[in-house]
Amino acid sequence: MRTPLIAGNWKMNGSAALINDFGSAFADVSLPAALDVVLIPPFPYLDAARQAFRNTPLTLGAQTLNPVESGAHTGEVSGRMLKEFEVSYVLVGHSERRELYRESDEQVFDRLLAALDNGLTPILCVGESLAERDAEKTMDVVLRQVGYAMTRLAPEQRQAVVIAYEPVWAIGTGRTATPEQAQDVMAGIRAYLAEFSTAFAEQMRLLYGGSMNAKNAAELLAQPDIDGGLVGGASLKTDDFYAICQSA
Ligand code: G3P
Repeated sequence: MRTPLIAGNWKMNGSAALINDFGSAFADVSLPAALDVVLIPPFPYLDAARQAFRNTPLTLGAQTLNPVESGAHTGEVSGRMLKEFEVSYVLVGHSERRELYRESDEQVFDRLLAALDNGLTPILCVGESLAERDAEKTMDVVLRQVGYAMTRLAPEQRQAVVIAYEPVWAIGTGRTATPEQAQDVMAGIRAYLAEFSTAFAEQMRLLYGGSMNAKNAAELLAQPDIDGGLVGGASLKTDDFYAICQSA
């Protein structure tokens, strides 16, 4: 059985006050026993979040990391540093990083390796643009992004990865993939993973991301190959994020 995972990616949003709101709102909640919940705020809030989330089920994630451990990389943060702040998960290959900061599959892979080397769980984000979907290239793009990483990892490394399918056209647009569209792609990812081994494919957690909210989460999360969500905008509101967690 795969433990569902709901992750809230704040992107470059939020505030110290919002961290405290989440700490209070999640202090006495009852969530499904088998559920991992991760909040992914910007770097400067990680330490405050670590303290504010002590009595909550919230664990911490980071939005990116540099592949190098330390050195002359102004503005960057390493996996070792994240680990010091009790970060457990880290996003790699988010479409905004791929697009705005030109991160290639190779650079995404270097980050993923650095995450694994530091004992962090990488959430590898993949997804097609609208033009790629319209050109019927969805599976080519998604399996290229997944495959680049998976074919270069040892079996025990592969098992430690979480994959998030985020169609770029559904991110921040209010236009969610239908449960069927998301399920189709994610079943395709799982079928690809089964080429390594069926047992491995069965234990891999696949998340859906792209305008997931309190209203559509239950239907998306009910799909057989959707094991959780990577939530952007709706993770900035305690009530909405809590409702999504309840749907898992
Ligand atoms: O990483 C989460 C994401 O890109 C989805 O964002 O705002 O569409 O839920 P949003």
